[in-house]
Amino acid sequence: MECEGNMSRILITGGAGFIGSHTTLTLLGAGYDVIIVDNLSNSSHKAVDAIGALALRETGKQFTFYEGDVADGAFLRTVFEKNKIDAVIHFAGFKAVGESVAKPAKYYVNNLLTTLTLLNTMKEFGVTGFVFSSSATVYSDPGITQYDESTTRVGRASSPYGTTKVIQEWILEDIAKSGDLLLKVISLRYFNPVGAHSSGEIGESPQGIPNNLTPFITQVAVGKRDFLSVFGDDYPTPDGTCIRDYIHVTDLAEAHYLAVKRLLETNDLPEFDGINIGSGKGYSVFEVIAAFDKAVGKKIPYKVVSRRDGDLAEFTAKTEKAQKLLGFTTKLTIGDMAKDAWNWQSKHPNGFDE
Ligand code: NAD
Ligand code: UFG
Repeated sequence: MECEGNMSRILITGGAGFIGSHTTLTLLGAGYDVIIVDNLSNSSHKAVDAIGALALRETGKQFTFYEGDVADGAFLRTVFEKNKIDAVIHFAGFKAVGESVAKPAKYYVNNLLTTLTLLNTMKEFGVTGFVFSSSATVYSDPGITQYDESTTRVGRASSPYGTTKVIQEWILEDIAKSGDLLLKVISLRYFNPVGAHSSGEIGESPQGIPNNLTPFITQVAVGKRDFLSVFGDDYPTPDGTCIRDYIHVTDLAEAHYLAVKRLLETNDLPEFDGINIGSGKGYSVFEVIAAFDKAVGKKIPYKVVSRRDGDLAEFTAKTEKAQKLLGFTTKLTIGDMAKDAWNWQSKHPNGFDE
């Protein structure tokens, strides 16, 4: 299937995943053509079908889907040959912090090879615009609670997963600044993406026991798990639980649209920009639980247990750079995040696996 259309054509790697699927919908809605490449290592054909059905319903448009590995240069070349690509958003990669500690090679190989192969292919085809999925984890622990983009990126993050993000940013920054590929990079450093599409038709579908707070809460709410373990209530925060900067995945998708637009429409861009994407406001674990109590209409059972290794008491984003360069601010509240995550989970108790 080939895309027809007059608008710019964006390659979304990992577009069958949580953030990539929402970004696909936003880009299609904005009139772009979208090519997804995903090997379904953390997604499925059912997910692709659900994204496709929703895209058609919401935007009247469809994306082109290629199943394959972004680290496979020969395969990727055929995608670029068949489609004139104007810019790339690179989501494909592994993201489970705990698994990356147990299996660092898996993370270094996949996360670095996808990026390097993509860069090689982009060079061959003269594609220069690159939006990268980075993470607040690149800042590791600078001893402050609210980070701006000048906060030093450490050499080693708090997990091998995080370190792959640091290394990928360095690779992208060095290549972009060298002028070699004429590369322009916007590296979006997400804080805590949560929520789901307001339709309840797509959302986060973690395999096995969820690592992250909000998918765990919704699995408790739907009866798949008995209670939430709250990892520590003795932190130096007002209620003793950790504070994070949660961002609705639909707002996050909008940030990607604005980043692509900037790459395609602005002259004289810096070669590399790292930009925080968060709301700027922090919520404690207890405050998140309260938001879900309200959305679900009953109390989420929880037990306070000991702290989880590596957790910081508080981190939130300074958001002025995103506002200044992208015109981006978040619109959706913690209540929207809870409502939409619950809507998705209650309609699809087993995620895309039903
Ligand atoms: P996800 O796992 O839902 O999506 C990633 C997608 O990439 C999956 O569909 C997977 O099948 C695909 N993929 C993985 N390796 C591939 C490969 N070699 N070739 C082709 N496809 C491949 O994850 P997500 O939550 O949507 O995250 C997307 C990106 O954002 C990741 O790079 C992640 O590290 C980054 N990020 C996520 C979070 C978060 O909390 N979700 C926070 C910060 C950064
Ligand atoms: N939490 C619980 N119980 C759970 C899960 C989480 O109490 O079952 C707490 C954590 O201790 C933390 C908060 O909920 O205080 C949020 O935890 P998440 O695991 O949802 O998110 P993190 O802030 O730990 O992780 C995020 C991103 C990672 C990134 C990491 C470091 O999801 O991709 O920040 O920047 F690597």
